[in-house]
Amino acid sequence: MITLGIETSCDETALALIETRGDYSTGDFGCRVIQSLILSQAELHSAYGGVFPMLAKREHGKNITPLLEKILHSTTSKGELADEQFNNILGSLRSEMQPKDPDLFGAIEDAYFLKDIPTIDQIAVTEGPGLEPTLWVGINFARILGALWNIPIIPVNHMEGHIVASLLSSDVAGGDWQKLKDLPLPAVALLISGGHTELVKVTSIGTYEVIGATRDDAVGEVYDKAARLLGLPYPGGPHISKLAHEAMQEGIIPIVKLPRPMIDSDNLDFSFSGLKTAVLYAVRNELKKTGTEQLSDASKKGIALEFERAVIETLEKKLRGAIESTGAQSVIIGGGVSANRMLRERFKTMGKEYDIPVYLPSSHTSGDNALMIALAAVIGKNEAPRMLKAHGTKKLA
Ligand code: KG4
Ligand code: ZN
Repeated sequence: MITLGIETSCDETALALIETRGDYSTGDFGCRVIQSLILSQAELHSAYGGVFPMLAKREHGKNITPLLEKILHSTTSKGELADEQFNNILGSLRSEMQPKDPDLFGAIEDAYFLKDIPTIDQIAVTEGPGLEPTLWVGINFARILGALWNIPIIPVNHMEGHIVASLLSSDVAGGDWQKLKDLPLPAVALLISGGHTELVKVTSIGTYEVIGATRDDAVGEVYDKAARLLGLPYPGGPHISKLAHEAMQEGIIPIVKLPRPMIDSDNLDFSFSGLKTAVLYAVRNELKKTGTEQLSDASKKGIALEFERAVIETLEKKLRGAIESTGAQSVIIGGGVSANRMLRERFKTMGKEYDIPVYLPSSHTSGDNALMIALAAVIGKNEAPRMLKAHGTKKLA
């Protein structure tokens, strides 16, 4: 079965094609990555210091159709729509979609390549959580393709995508058939992205319980805000991580001490907004002390290192709590922040200590991508095809 994945929940326009066979729940399952394309808008949003939803919506609308044309080069055709059919189907959706999404609909109307019906059996699309205006672009795009090619659309929870992403053994496009990694159950998933920080008990793929979450900012969000305070571009995570790494290599010892918020609370929740405020005060103090208007490279690096330690120590303490309270036999880390180098090292070491596997996504699948969305539609929570609607705050369980 061939699944087309569509992801537009934030500032990545992503499409993927996977082929799967067998049944995941019986263990007899294989998967092949045909192609996975990601178009990041990060540079565009950099000027705003964060994602600007209406700009993101317009970009998805303009870019997703050309991206589809590109990915369809990896499929074969199974037929062709007559001009009249093509026009009738688009005509039936025009009055609803064109006023709401002129960029998307405009691009589709000129996309005659869509008349070629590709060998795709179903479409998987992110329904939420995410930014509603951008989610709608993916959903409407899926609805248009579903109507043109007469195939079902499976709604997918973006967070479930981040869970299954770590199960892929390889993300190489055009790669061989692969088995997914064995997941001893129950598992604990730590999902850390720009919008979410959650600890999830995974009883099976498709059965989830959120056992801890942030009470305010998400961890990626606080990385981005701290980066801004340090004068680094958006998205800030990779920049802070790079400075922290340089600080370690250069033997810089941070002079500031930042809080590890809620580290000793007897629950699995997080709170990161205090950490952001602490970075603000650390920066102000440093500027006052030096009587300058800009931080020196060394003090930026010192703050970045201390910040990274505060975040990782807090995440690790809660993750340990989750492993111990659920009796987890394996751990999954997902979401953009899981690209973080120091965090990956720490969690791998922790896994060895508990003697359980810790699965981390590849660099391609740690941030937002459509490969994880296509895979989640096939092996994840069974969401029957139905009327789709963007759910900004869609829950996992
Ligand atoms: O999952 P994701 O791509 O998008 C959301 O669904 O939010 O996560 C994006 C977040 C951003 O906040 C970004 O700064 C952070 O992931 N991030 C990192 C690193 N790479 C990306 N944070 C820390 N270290 C990194 N290396
Ligand atoms: Zn994400």
